[in-house]
This record gives sequence, C-alpha cells and structure tokens, in this order.
Amino acid sequence: MEKIIIAAKAANNVIGKDNSLPWHLPADLDFFMRTIENKFLIAGRIFFESVQGREVFHKGVKGIVMSRNKFYKSPNVQVAHSVEESLQLSEKKGVQKAYILGGGEIYQQTIALVDRLMITEIHNEFAGDTFFPEIDKSQWQEVSRITHTKDALNPYDYSFVVYEPATGR
Ligand SMILES: NC(=O)c1ccc[n+]([C@@H]2O[C@H](COP(=O)([O-])OP(=O)(O)OC[C@H]3O[C@@H](n4cnc5c(N)ncnc54)[C@H](OP(=O)(O)O)[C@@H]3O)[C@@H](O)[C@H]2O)c1
Repeated sequence: MEKIIIAAKAANNVIGKDNSLPWHLPADLDFFMRTIENKFLIAGRIFFESVQGREVFHKGVKGIVMSRNKFYKSPNVQVAHSVEESLQLSEKKGVQKAYILGGGEIYQQTIALVDRLMITEIHNEFAGDTFFPEIDKSQWQEVSRITHTKDALNPYDYSFVVYEPATGR
C-alpha cells in the first residue's frame, strides 16, 4: 500500500492556528479536494472534527480517524487507536493508496513511514500553533515543483511540491 502525506505549510512550517488553516488560498483547497476525491483517507481526531475535516469526511467517504480514546465513535468512518492499527486496517481493506491528511500530531508520527509527501509550500510566514515536521533533505528528494504567483483570488505565492524518499533512505 502506498502511503502519501498531503499538507499545506507556510515558509515557517505553520499548518494550523486555532484548529483551522491560518490562510485562505482557494487554489490549494481546490487542489486538495481534487487530489483526495474518492481516495482512502487517514486523519487525526482533531482535524477530523474541525470545520475543514467535516467538509472532507462527508457521508460515503472511506477512511480512518485516529483517536487514543477506546470509546471514540463516528458514524461514517472507522476508528484506529494507533498508527500501526490505522495502516493495518487500511491494508486489510485492500487499499492501494492511503492519503494521510494530518494534522500536526499525525504528520509527526507518520512522516518516517510514508512513500511520498505532497506539500503545498506557501511562500509566506504565518502565526500559528501547529507545525509540519522539518523535511530532512537527506531523507527526501524533491521530484516535482509547480510554482504559482499570487493572483486576485490567491493572495500568496505558492508551490505544489512532491517529495520522495532520497536514494538510499
Ligand atoms: N495545513 C494543512 O495541510 C493541515 C492539514 C490538517 C490539519 N491542519 C491543522 O492542524 C491542526 C490539527 O492538528 P493537531 O496536531 O492539533 O491534531 P491532529 O493531528 O488532527 O489530531 C490529534 C489527535 O489524533 C489522535 N492521535 C494522535 N496520535 C495518535 C496515535 N498514535 N494513536 C491514536 N490516536 C492518535 C488523538 O486523538 P484523541 O485526543 O481523540 O485521543 C490526538 O488528540 C488544526 O489547526 C488543523 O487546521 C492543517
């Protein structure tokens, strides 16, 4: 099973503030929603319960939410109680590609386990309380980068970047 992290991060690695995104960047939201459409999703309980998480995990979406709480239940998705359990459950279901949606705690614990990072790098710094882990360039090589400059709808320059494990990792 291929495991893919998808995230949008600021130049200072901020990914969230007050349980939301610190920016409004419609081009990235479009990209994100198109990329994860009909895919198998894994998310942390805090992101899952956020406004954006609820938009993503609407009825019929296949995925797993991670919680350490053994009693946590949600009508639409399965619950896993560890990273290992979330990956085992996905494998058991025959999932070919699992998209890991964050948030910060989940990225931190899975970055060493995944096959690809799909990162929207926003070329601005933001204040925030949740961060993406440092991408260690000895472990990850950039395989593609598409840069867009700001426009009337998108107030920051940003790049869609894909990283894969560096040779020999
Ligand atoms: N920019 C982006 O791409 C992006 C993407 C996603 C989220 N975000 C932002 O990130 C923030 C949320 O991230 P966060 O770090 O606060 O929370 P999170 O990673 O979404 O969820 C953390 C929760 O996941 C569960 N969990 C974590 N590790 C676990 C493990 N090993 N086993 C079982 N359950 C585990 C725990 O739930 P219980 O407490 O229930 O045990 C924990 O409280 C928000 O601000 C959101 O907007 C940004």
